[in-house]
Amino acid sequence: MYPIGLQTLLDAIRVNITSWSVAYLFALISFLAYVLPLWPEDDDKGVMLPGRLPFTIAPYFQRRFDFLHWGFEYTKQRIYRFRLLTNSVMVVSGDQGRMDFFNAKSLNLHEGFRVLSGALPFVQGVTVDLRERRIAQIYKRLAAVQKTERLTELIPEILGDCRRAMVSWGKAGRLEPFDGIYELAFQLSVRCVTCVEIADDPAVVLRLRKWYDQVDRGTTAATVLFPWFPSPAMLRKAYATKQIYSLVTNTIKVRKESGVPRDDTLQMLLDAGDDQLMIVGFIMGLLIAGARSTGNTASWLITFLGCHPEWRSKARLEVQQLIASSGTSSKATDSDIADVLSTIPVTAWETEAPVLDSLIHETLRISESHVAMRRNLGPTVHIDGKTLPSGSFALYPFSDVHLNPEFYSDPYQFDPSRPARKDGFEFLGWGAGRISCLGQRLAKLQLRLLTAMFVLNYDFQTVDDRGMPADPPPKPDWNDTLYCRPSNGQFFLDYRESDAGKA
Ligand code: HEM
Repeated sequence: MYPIGLQTLLDAIRVNITSWSVAYLFALISFLAYVLPLWPEDDDKGVMLPGRLPFTIAPYFQRRFDFLHWGFEYTKQRIYRFRLLTNSVMVVSGDQGRMDFFNAKSLNLHEGFRVLSGALPFVQGVTVDLRERRIAQIYKRLAAVQKTERLTELIPEILGDCRRAMVSWGKAGRLEPFDGIYELAFQLSVRCVTCVEIADDPAVVLRLRKWYDQVDRGTTAATVLFPWFPSPAMLRKAYATKQIYSLVTNTIKVRKESGVPRDDTLQMLLDAGDDQLMIVGFIMGLLIAGARSTGNTASWLITFLGCHPEWRSKARLEVQQLIASSGTSSKATDSDIADVLSTIPVTAWETEAPVLDSLIHETLRISESHVAMRRNLGPTVHIDGKTLPSGSFALYPFSDVHLNPEFYSDPYQFDPSRPARKDGFEFLGWGAGRISCLGQRLAKLQLRLLTAMFVLNYDFQTVDDRGMPADPPPKPDWNDTLYCRPSNGQFFLDYRESDAGKA
């Protein structure tokens, strides 16, 4: 006796050859109609790009900037859609679309990012699928970290980390900014959102950075589209996530068991009575939210400064004036520039450093290759007249405004003297409308301090791989959605110790 299923199969094979051919032809036509509509479909939700299989949207993962811009050119519309397997994704551009996108109450950042980016270490209830209450709690603690008193305590620690890095770089040398400066900025993020046990141990910080890189690199088309499939990239990502998770939980355990309080962010969370999941969520989540952005911005800022001697001088002069007006003795020696800068109050950094601020602002405009991602949690919303049903996704590429010559002439030119554009969400560096960066105060402080230390410590310039002054200057690669590293070669900082900090 054949089992029932097998008998049915044998029966099916006996079907005559003509019916097979018809069936094949029918299947092929249906398949092609599904996969390759040859012209865009249009309705009140916006034009839909043709194609829906992973390979047709592979460029979304590999060359996102080109892909999204090609979509605008192909459809000749301000808004269009494409399919990401079963999900319909709306891509938004233009003034009205931007306003509607950033003002819409029901557009959710976390859900959008989770599904469309996938660049998250996946720990259920810790980094994804957090309840609203837990997210609110994490944000409340982040606000506490950024109170003036806490930032005042962090300033000497941040500067101490900068000093250690600069001592290790020596009096002169050549540095790859997207490695060296990035590493220092990562250290500062770790210092501010974790604890002394981790931040004081360079080997542990290095491991942590490698695991975060592994999580980022583990984000491929396959891991986003089929998050359940154990591909090698997904396994590496899971491994790195597990390592980060274990490091954080072990550190909390050791701290608790020691009963010895330390002066750091972990202690602040423990003293507030937060449970382990909340603390792990805070540390892992905020390192994702902050470390890469701060690292990229710091690397680009110093790289741009290395191409613009006039801005190096202005930045240095501004920091010297801050020192002078803080009333600190200006007879600093090489090793205590950090101590001198420590005496400048938080408020002075925030209100009396317009040059540093315009450097940060312009750096973000040119080198933050961010694409805002949202999911509509309902009800239906309208974006520039197009319907975005509940459950669907929308994207807004920052390039639409930051690289738009209508707003910023010669957009790739680094020019911090451009007048600030505040109306109509024309600068999005820290977000806009309903969602803005909640770590902005901390990030800006880190960037100001790192830049101040660098310009006081070194005379420097950006050079190409032959050691020649960078000409043309490095150009941010907007297709590199994670790091936005230069698209036109490798660049270095040639630096030599300066006596600017000793004057
Ligand atoms: C230079 C560094 C940084 C930049 C340029 C930056 C930029 C941004 C931007 C543009 C957004 C909005 C994203 C969107 O609309 O899609 C955002 C959100 C956010 N950022 Fe930052 N960020 C930086 C550093 C940090 C740091 C250091 C932290 C925390 C330690 C942080 C925490 C957050 C959080 C929690 C959100 C989400 C806000 C929400 O859910 O409403 N960021 N950031």
